[in-house]
Amino acid sequence: MDKFKSISISPKSLEAIKSFKLPEDLAFGKVMAPIMIESNYDNGKWDEFKMVPYQQLTLDPTCKALHYAQEIFEGLKGYYTNAKGPFLFRPEENMKRFNLSAKRMAMAEIPEESFLDGVDAITSYCSQFIPVSSGDSLYIRPFMFASENSLGIKPSEKFKFLIVASPSQAYFKSGSVKVLVEEDAVRACPGGVGHAKTGGNYAASLLSMINANKKGYDQVLWLDAVTKENIEEMSGMNFFAVYGEKLRTPELTETILNGITRKSIIQLATHLGYKVEEKTMKVSELVEDVKSGACSEAFACGTAVIITPINTLGLSNGETFPLQHEQGPVAMKLRKALLDIQEGTGDDPFGWRKTLSPQQ
Ligand SMILES: Cc1ncc(COP(=O)(O)O)c(C=O)c1O
Repeated sequence: MDKFKSISISPKSLEAIKSFKLPEDLAFGKVMAPIMIESNYDNGKWDEFKMVPYQQLTLDPTCKALHYAQEIFEGLKGYYTNAKGPFLFRPEENMKRFNLSAKRMAMAEIPEESFLDGVDAITSYCSQFIPVSSGDSLYIRPFMFASENSLGIKPSEKFKFLIVASPSQAYFKSGSVKVLVEEDAVRACPGGVGHAKTGGNYAASLLSMINANKKGYDQVLWLDAVTKENIEEMSGMNFFAVYGEKLRTPELTETILNGITRKSIIQLATHLGYKVEEKTMKVSELVEDVKSGACSEAFACGTAVIITPINTLGLSNGETFPLQHEQGPVAMKLRKALLDIQEGTGDDPFGWRKTLSPQQ
């Protein structure tokens, strides 16, 4: 057991694994693995990090997270494609981002070893429940919330940390998405929390998503809050445009989440011979470039969606601009190269893949 030495494995969690039957239809994030990792922070320290059966939480109605949204999370995947693995992809990046989000949201940081051991343990013990088709995975969700009970608006002194996991199929059923540029509402503003993975950013995006869905779009593309001219990202994904052999993506600011997929694509695409430019991108210029064909492809990227091509960009005045390729060759080539690393079907030139041993 000292593989996950900072995690105590409860006998009940092993029983829960034995009696769990994986349903056939998984979808994304709907079926939960039978175990979870848990720890509580109080009096300035974390208690034991334990693996326990997946279970309901009991919360006092005054639990601060419910009122003041002091909450953060991460998302990463465990792969067991063709029953090879399980593998994780750069989990230390999620650990670092989690603790950056914790700092911004005035929350306790998690000991690095416990975060990583917790992710390893839940993945290894759930290996048998990870679907084996390419694109499927165990979606792993570490999260933390303010668990102190009191209605005063003050930073919580108590926190609960959990890791749950969901055997999942692909996030998007279709191979590409239709995206509406959001020209009114904004997701994040300078000095705010856009670069932290905190629930409020997602809550702020939902009304726009409803409106976009009503107009037949799958996703919203956010602009910067100050000029509303520059592209930032999507609600759970970063954005890339392809210009021949060149890729463009908005440079990171405090209003954009520093995506691990984005960062990996920049390195991978450069390695494959593409030029990558991280620069402010005006939406008006992008639209002109899509119209002229100078921009031949665009895609969304993130842990959940991997690389998903964008087939159409739309504006609030009803104009639509189809991309030349519905599933562009560059997006599809990068998607395959990335998945080969993640799923263990190709070389791993950057040392991004972490190989675990299945536990029964
Ligand atoms: C707002 C936002 N942008 C981008 C991403 C992509 O980040 P990553 O590639 O680390 O999953 C995510 C998902 O985590 C996100 O929630």
